[in-house]
Amino acid sequence: MVVGAQFGDEAKGKISDFLSADFRYVVRTGGGPNAGHSVHIPEGKVVLHQVSCGVLRPKVLGVSGPGMVLQPITLDAEIAELERRGLLKGELVISDRAHVLLPIHELEDAWEDELRGRLNPEAALGTTRTGIGPAYSDRAARFGLRMADLLRPALLRERLDLLYARKAHLPNLPPVAELVGRLSEVAGRLAPRVQSTEPILWKALEAGESVLLEGAQSALLDLDFGTYPFVTSSHPTSAGALVGSGLPPTEVESVIGVAKAYTTRVGAGPFPTEDSGEDGEFLRRVGGERGATTGRPRRCGWLDLVHLRYAARLNGFTSLAITKVDVLGGRDEVPVGAQYVMPDGSTVRDILPAHADELARAQPVYERLEGWPEFHERLKERIRRDGASALPSPLRGFLDLIAQEVGVPVEIVSYGPQRGDTVRLDISGHPGRRGPLARWSS
Ligand code: IMP
Repeated sequence: MVVGAQFGDEAKGKISDFLSADFRYVVRTGGGPNAGHSVHIPEGKVVLHQVSCGVLRPKVLGVSGPGMVLQPITLDAEIAELERRGLLKGELVISDRAHVLLPIHELEDAWEDELRGRLNPEAALGTTRTGIGPAYSDRAARFGLRMADLLRPALLRERLDLLYARKAHLPNLPPVAELVGRLSEVAGRLAPRVQSTEPILWKALEAGESVLLEGAQSALLDLDFGTYPFVTSSHPTSAGALVGSGLPPTEVESVIGVAKAYTTRVGAGPFPTEDSGEDGEFLRRVGGERGATTGRPRRCGWLDLVHLRYAARLNGFTSLAITKVDVLGGRDEVPVGAQYVMPDGSTVRDILPAHADELARAQPVYERLEGWPEFHERLKERIRRDGASALPSPLRGFLDLIAQEVGVPVEIVSYGPQRGDTVRLDISGHPGRRGPLARWSS
């Protein structure tokens, strides 16, 4: 499985797409239209929201899994656009158990975040306003609709009437009949894809086939273990990926944690290594750091090893993928947040305080590493030819530090947006999860 180690936007889509070449099944396990997985393929850039990146490869079955909340109208449009561009090369199936996210959840999401902000401007979460929180709330409260319900008109109407009664406090709800009409129209098109997906995956594993779980969002946005309440409403951890796919923990062979070489965050919440000055602006500009779903500028700062150690423990990472190392190319030095000093003088290395306001007061202690050169085309060609041994030596020092400090080997390094701008490191013969270093010889 591929899971995020920071606040989302670590380029998990890129890593999942890279890995999907070796898989027959690729499953999105949680979240919904809040995600934006950007993938650069020879045909151009694609941003996937509710569909697994597996569909971009022939002979791959992409699954929108049972842990997701799916907005049928925008999902239908996303599929139509992929078809129009000739990019739906694999097959796509949609879990009949995935919950339905409705346009009224989008209205409710905005209404709720405005409510939080009215009482205290600092309490607004800055959600993506795609309806995630309300859809997962209705799921937990058992007012939700599931994708299978869309195919049963009488049940759909009954569930919607109940949901409208629950949401009578919201202004500007569209008439229920109008919503039924819009849903019924897309339901007809989606119907052939809506299936029970767990048995497909169980059978695949029994037959020795390979299954990749493609996580969305990230550890620090986890509903329980992230920076609550500045989190999303699902469990974007390895444990959540199992619940969101219906697969058991005994089937998991590896858990790849994806981290950017620096940190970004969209929305509100604590971010100890944030740089609101020139360096943050540099990262935003060079890294193209704008939300793939909302277009909002991302908050930027340095890599935070406390986050990575914490995420490694939560998820049981067996290896790491470090992305966007090219963005830091050409800098004299690269700061890395090694630990925090708290207001009482204590140090924090691998846990996060339960209170977001405590984390906001953490002072990061930086290690300053030697920078590496810019990733011009000649360097990229050398890496493609010679593999990881061609990575500049200060960059190898950076990756070794991460591996050593987090206790997890770095297995994949991504140095540009294209599929080919990715290199694997040899971690065979590695002593295991606690052993630190990659082998650099080619
Ligand atoms: P929600 O998931 O839309 O409810 O948003 C809750 C928080 O998670 C906000 O800070 C969002 O910006 C953040 N978030 C949700 N999905 C993503 C994502 O895919 N990438 C990065 N941040 C996300």
